[in-house]
Amino acid sequence: MASSAEELREQVRARYAESARAVAGEGDGCGSGGCCGDETEGERFGWALYAAEQRGERPDAAVRASLGCGNPTAVADLHEGETVLDLGSGGGIDVILSAWRVGPAGTAYGLDMTDEMLALARQNARDAGVANVHFLKGLIEQIPLPADSVDVVISNCVINLSTDKAAVLAEISRVLRPGGRLGVRDIVAENRLTAGERAERGSHVGCVAGALAKTEYEAGLEAAGFEQVTVEFMHEVADGMHGAIVKAVRTATPAEKGLPVVQPAARAGCC
Ligand SMILES: C[S@@+](CC[C@H](N)C(=O)[O-])C[C@H]1O[C@@H](n2cnc3c(N)ncnc32)[C@H](O)[C@@H]1O
Repeated sequence: MASSAEELREQVRARYAESARAVAGEGDGCGSGGCCGDETEGERFGWALYAAEQRGERPDAAVRASLGCGNPTAVADLHEGETVLDLGSGGGIDVILSAWRVGPAGTAYGLDMTDEMLALARQNARDAGVANVHFLKGLIEQIPLPADSVDVVISNCVINLSTDKAAVLAEISRVLRPGGRLGVRDIVAENRLTAGERAERGSHVGCVAGALAKTEYEAGLEAAGFEQVTVEFMHEVADGMHGAIVKAVRTATPAEKGLPVVQPAARAGCC
């Protein structure tokens, strides 16, 4: 990976570590660079996008830590006994919601690279009294779970932060069982915007500059072995940039389809 990509990932990690410390009462929040859910973003990011009745059910810290661009559990159609994986789980709100939906016979995994967010999420899960959750430390580009082990992958405003989106989509395809579903909230750009124009509308750590265009998302998912791909714009966060619902079904891995396989360099271990 180019050092600039590593530096960008480190900026993302530092920004969200700061955000987690702020929720825990130990810091100043997202700082001048902003992050998804910065209070200045009003109702375009974060807890305001959850239905009021769901916010009422959450532990306070999980609600305040919410930095997403929607509620992925509302679009993922979860069933009792299923295994769910939340990519970039942050303060854990979507993992806790998922754990309740899949019930004691199911499992909800949260994956995040930021130690401070993992600590916050584990505390929030303890406060919520959910036992069927596991928070893993690792990268969404190198998911520390076996192939064909997950029924549903969700994510809330994280894939736009990745510096290697092809690897993320290939990894989602690898861990999903055949027939497994993807239900993601993310920031997505209208096709008319160039990468430069996306960068003019917001920072990378603020979930804007790294957003894929709609057709890039659709093509990336199809190349990774997904079918029934839909990208639906929901609310505008900047001119031509939208909070979106991305859905797809994993029918075959890229290898099964004879497509090029993106190999992650190494897979981080669970913690
Ligand atoms: C915008 S926050 C969203 C958190 C959570 N999904 C929510 O809705 O509140 C982004 C989260 O993704 C994590 N993250 C960003 N890039 C990541 C990567 N490449 N691998 C793993 N975690 C990542 C950050 O540490 C942070 O907790």
